[in-house]
Order: sequence, then C-alpha cells, then structure tokens
Amino acid sequence: MSKKIGFIGLGIMGKPMSKNLLKAGYDLTVCDINTAAVAEVVALGAKSAATPKDVAAQTDIVITMLPNSPQVKTVVLGANGVAEGAKPGTIVVDMSSIAPQAAQEVAQALAAKGVKMIDAPVSGGEPKAIDATLSIMVGGDAAVFAECEPILKCMGASVVLVGDVGAGNVTKLANQIVVALNIAAVSEAFVLATKAGVDPEAVFNAIKGGLAGSTVMNAKVPMMLDGNFKPGFRIELHIKDLQNALDTAHALNVATPLTANVMETLQALKCDDMGACDHSAIVRFYEKLAKTEVRRKA
Ligand SMILES: NC(=O)c1ccc[n+]([C@@H]2O[C@H](COP(=O)([O-])OP(=O)(O)OC[C@H]3O[C@@H](n4cnc5c(N)ncnc54)[C@H](O)[C@@H]3O)[C@@H](O)[C@H]2O)c1
Repeated sequence: MSKKIGFIGLGIMGKPMSKNLLKAGYDLTVCDINTAAVAEVVALGAKSAATPKDVAAQTDIVITMLPNSPQVKTVVLGANGVAEGAKPGTIVVDMSSIAPQAAQEVAQALAAKGVKMIDAPVSGGEPKAIDATLSIMVGGDAAVFAECEPILKCMGASVVLVGDVGAGNVTKLANQIVVALNIAAVSEAFVLATKAGVDPEAVFNAIKGGLAGSTVMNAKVPMMLDGNFKPGFRIELHIKDLQNALDTAHALNVATPLTANVMETLQALKCDDMGACDHSAIVRFYEKLAKTEVRRKA
C-alpha cells in the first residue's frame, strides 16, 4: 500500500513540490498558515489539516518545507506540532534549508519518540520545483533514505544520500556559498565589461561556453540583462543561508572570508529595500558603485 504523505509549508517551493506528489498519485494532506495556498492544493485533490499535529496523525511520512530553523522547530516540536501527532515509525522529511545543528537537534528530539527523520534540502529554485527536477541532498539513516527515495524522486531529478542527519544541510550550505560567490563574481565582471563599453549580452554569449560558464551564469545573466529581479530566490533567504554558513563555519573553527564579504553585499541590498528581490540583484550593488547598468542594448 502506498504511503500517506503530509506536506507542511506551501510557499514558492512547497506548493509546486506538493502538486508533483499529487500528480504521482500520492494521498496527500497539506497544512500552511497561508489559507490561500492550502485552498489551491486542496482544489487539486489534497486533503487539508488544521495543525501539524493533525497532519502527522493522518499520515505516515511528513514533509516540511519552511523558511528556517525556528519555523521547523516550532512546526515539528512546538504545541500542536508534528511530534504530538506522530506515531512510532512516522518519518519526518525536512526539506527546508536550515542550520545543520538544528536538523540534528530536531532529529534527536524525534528519535526519543520513535520517530525517524532525514534532512533533505533542495537546490534548483521554483522552475525546478515545478518541473520536478530539483537536486535533493539527503542526510540520514540509509534504510530511512531507501523508504523515502521513491517519494523524493517525484520532486527531484537528482537525489543523493550524503551522510548522517545534518549532512544534507551542510551540503546545502556549501551549495549556497558557491551560488552567492558565483553571482557576485559574475556581477563584478559584467559591470566592468559594460563600463568598458562592451555589450554585456555579447560578453555572455562569448564566455558562457568556456571555463567561466556556469549554471548560475546561464540562469542569472539573462535576468540582469532584462533588469528583472522578481524572485526566484529572495535576497533575505540567501542572507539566512549565509548566516547559517557563517555560524556553522565559526563553530567548527573555519574561516570563510569570501562568504563574509558577499554577506555584507546582500545586507547592503536589504538595507536598500531589495530584500525581497531575486539574488541576481547582487548586480545592483556593483552597478551603483560603478554608475553603470548591465542591460541589453535596445
Ligand atoms: N525559493 C527558492 O528558490 C528556494 C530554493 C531552494 C531552497 N529553498 C529553501 O526552501 C525553503 C522554503 O523556501 P520558499 O521559497 O518556499 O519560502 P516561502 O517563504 O515562499 O514559503 C514558506 C512557507 O512556509 C509557511 N509557514 C511558515 N511558518 C509556518 C508555520 N508555522 N506553519 C505552517 N506553515 C508555515 C509560509 O506560510 C509559507 O507558505 C527555505 O528554507 C528556502 O531557503 C528555496
């Protein structure tokens, strides 16, 4: 018999991910404080539950897709939380990007109740959530991973077990450092080329197939050329991820100077009311310094 799935957190990512589970034929129960998002997924065949506790009571596997560690702790361990409704054998799959240490703490608290947990953050953003082609990095017990793998494959093209609980989020932090630094490098380089009088679209076409090319460049330079900073992935969420990266690095006695530098760039953009823009708006920071905009020639 196919497992009943609960899904808590129907935001930019969780909504399309939950829709893909419905498409795959799973019995799905959803919950979010945003009632419009719940109604949209219920209209496609999901059931709704009033609280995370109710979701857990009605399902075998509970997926969470929430902003950060505090929300995951509240939804899973707080009053009317998942832990209150879960049975021994329930599996919690947290797909949010949170601090690795928080993932371990939640897993430990659940283990005391006989509830298993894996952390399974994702990379790819809204388009890949819609297409079910996310990259999913999983931390947890191999047997629990094997139980969840077919479900994760309904949402992602790549599903990789990287270690024990927390390792998924360590991998996600590494991913977020690479993405942030890559966008910053692309921004700095393209502002320079534009101010030097070279068409930035021509620069993109000339270098995207070479060593400097990247998935980040292909996704973000067209947005910069269009001046389109609609999220996508919000600057304030990237600040959250880099804060988790800096905290984790410092706790491990690791220095991350480039991450700290881009963190201040993101912070400056947030101070400039761009916290809700896509992280491709990092180019705006460099554009302002050089008084030059990286845009297509009319
Ligand atoms: N947006 C992206 O491109 C992207 C890409 C990869 C990973 N992520 C990560 O995925 C996670 C979710 O991101 P998102 O962009 O979907 O965020 P979002 O803010 O759009 O969605 C979060 C959802 O959680 C709900 N929520 C918050 N607190 C709740 C509570 N107590 N009970 C029930 N629901 C609650 C909100 O109402 C919202 O619908 C984050 O950790 C983010 O860093 C996002």
